[in-house]
Amino acid sequence: MKPVRKAVFPVAGLGTRFLPATKSIPKEMLPIVDKPLIQYAVEEALAAGIETLIFVTSRKKHAISDHFDRAFELETKLAANGKDDLLECITNIIPTNVIRADVTQLETLGLGHAVNCARGLIGDEPFAVLLADDLIKSDGPGCLQQLISQYEKSGRSTIAVQNIATEDSDQYGMIEPSSIGREVLSIIEKPKPADAPSNLAVVGRYILTPEIFPLFEQVGAGAGGEIQLTDAIALLMQQQSIEYCEFTGRRYDCGSKAGFIEATVDYALERPELRDKILLHIRDSLNR
Ligand code: UTP
Repeated sequence: MKPVRKAVFPVAGLGTRFLPATKSIPKEMLPIVDKPLIQYAVEEALAAGIETLIFVTSRKKHAISDHFDRAFELETKLAANGKDDLLECITNIIPTNVIRADVTQLETLGLGHAVNCARGLIGDEPFAVLLADDLIKSDGPGCLQQLISQYEKSGRSTIAVQNIATEDSDQYGMIEPSSIGREVLSIIEKPKPADAPSNLAVVGRYILTPEIFPLFEQVGAGAGGEIQLTDAIALLMQQQSIEYCEFTGRRYDCGSKAGFIEATVDYALERPELRDKILLHIRDSLNR
């Protein structure tokens, strides 16, 4: 079985739910406290042993490449002013032995289309996909590490899922789990609650085998008129078994305003220098 060494980060979406903030920057650059969403996802991938990071970008790509590039003027200033802690947090985000590549998605035709843009850089290997707007906080191994550990036992494509309220099913890909084991029996994108096969929703972490790539060409426009990753996975399931992983960790839907604010509050409360101020503010606000 080939190891999972490459990860794809689709960051070419329009981010319309965060306009006007996302007019000129990808939503993955929005910060939770002081770190952009994409950096949390990259750190999760690096912790899971990923060696090649592939960003599928749009015309707003510069913000993401700039973030992971060196910033010599800033580094020189911080060094001269003795701001070593700040210098440390902007350098070596990505270790030098890790390969970073950008591919452009010329048109935002959907998540499936975005993943297919990375095909030439993946080749004949299993790979990970991380959606940075799903921020996953875990006290133990990260979500991607949990998926990779499961993949290493089964050799099968593995998708992260979590329990959601039935009435929210039309915002997610939903799966039908097998009664024994961890096989996915069916998957459907954004079903109405009455059509949802279970309460298990797909979250933005996947390990996929390369047999998925030719299937993107067979997938037409699906939910929302977009080429959906879920539809390609449904085709892949006709060829090979796929597993789901109910990961341990808390997921924040940072593509939505409420989820983004929840993440901001929770991450801020974990910072000793912010905790008391934020708690005081929350208490004040509640009393107002
Ligand atoms: P979303 O549907 O959550 O993102 O896509 P969006 O379309 O940018 O956001 P809204 O709904 O307009 O606010 C999930 C992920 O897939 C990427 C997005 O960047 C996000 O990480 N994506 C989506 C692409 O890279 N290309 C696409 O064509 C569509």
